[in-house]
Amino acid sequence: MRSGSGVSWVVAVLALSWSAVALAEEGSEAGKERAAEVYSTFCASCHGRYGRGDGPLAPSLTARPPDFTDSAWLAGRSGDQIAMALAGASHGPMAVATVLEQDVLRDAIAYIVTLSVPGKHVSLLAGRDIYAALCWVCHGERGDGKGPAAKNLTGAPPRDFTSAEFVIDGREEQIADTISHGAAASFHGSPLMLPWGSHLSPQQIRDVVEYLRTLKTR
Ligand code: HEC
Ligand code: HEC
Repeated sequence: MRSGSGVSWVVAVLALSWSAVALAEEGSEAGKERAAEVYSTFCASCHGRYGRGDGPLAPSLTARPPDFTDSAWLAGRSGDQIAMALAGASHGPMAVATVLEQDVLRDAIAYIVTLSVPGKHVSLLAGRDIYAALCWVCHGERGDGKGPAAKNLTGAPPRDFTSAEFVIDGREEQIADTISHGAAASFHGSPLMLPWGSHLSPQQIRDVVEYLRTLKTR
C-alpha cells in the first residue's frame, strides 16, 4: 500500500517534470527553430512561406487554405483547439494531419499561431524579409539609420527608426505613403528615399511598417 502510493508519486513527479521540460522547450530558440522547420517541410507547400494560403500547390487545390496572417482566422483559439479540429480531417487536403506524429503536428501548429499579429492582418516575417532585402543598406540592420550606404548619402540622413522622435502610432497612413511614393513626393523630403510602390504591394508595405515597430523596442 505504502510502496504503491510511493510509486505513483514518483510517476506523477516524472510526468510533471517531463511536461515542464516540454513546456520549457516550447518557448526556446531550438523549439522555435524546429517548429519553423516542420512547417516549411510539411505545410508551406500549400499554406505558403508566410502562411498566407498561397503556397506553390495552392492553385491546384479545390479548397483554399486559410490566411494564417489574418488574426481574424485565429480568433483567439489555442493551438490545442486547432489540433483538435484537424484530428478529424481524415479526408481532404488536411489528411496530412492524421499521418504525422502528434508532436510534429503540435510543433507545426505552435508555429502557425505565431504568424499573425493580434487584431491585425499583417505578416511580421514578410516585413522582416522585405526590410532585409531593400531597406537595411540605408536604415541599418537594427534600424538606427546607420546602414553601410548611409555615409555616402547627401542631404537628410536615413530615418533612425529606433529613436523616440520616430513615431508610428497614428501615422501609419503617412508612413505607408512615404514608402509607396518616396519622401520627395510625400513630404518634400530627400529624393534618396525612393518610391517603392512599384516593387511592393500595399499589403507588403503594411508588413514592413509593422516590422519597423519591432525596431523601436530594441
Ligand atoms: C496539400 C495541401 C496542404 C498541406 C500540405 C497542408 N494543408 Fe492545411 N489546409 C489545406 C487546405 C486546402 C485547408 C482548408 C481546408 C478547408 O477549408 O476545408 C487547410 C486548412 C488548415 C487549417 C485550418 C483548420 C481550421 O480549423 O481553421 C490548419 C490549422 C492547417 N491547415 C494546418 C496545416 C498544417 C499544420 C500543415 C502541415 C503539417 C498543413 N496544414 C498542411 C491544405 C494543406
Ligand atoms: C538609398 C537609401 C534608402 C533606402 C534603401 C531606403 N530608405 Fe527610407 N529613407 C532614406 C532617407 C534619406 C530618409 C529621410 C528622408 C527625409 O527625411 O527627407 C528616409 C526616410 C524613411 C522613412 C521616414 C518617413 C517618416 O514619415 O518619418 C521611412 C518610414 C522609410 N524611410 C522607410 C523605408 C523603407 C521601408 C525602406 C525599404 C523598403 C527604405 N526606407 C529604404 C533613405 C533610404
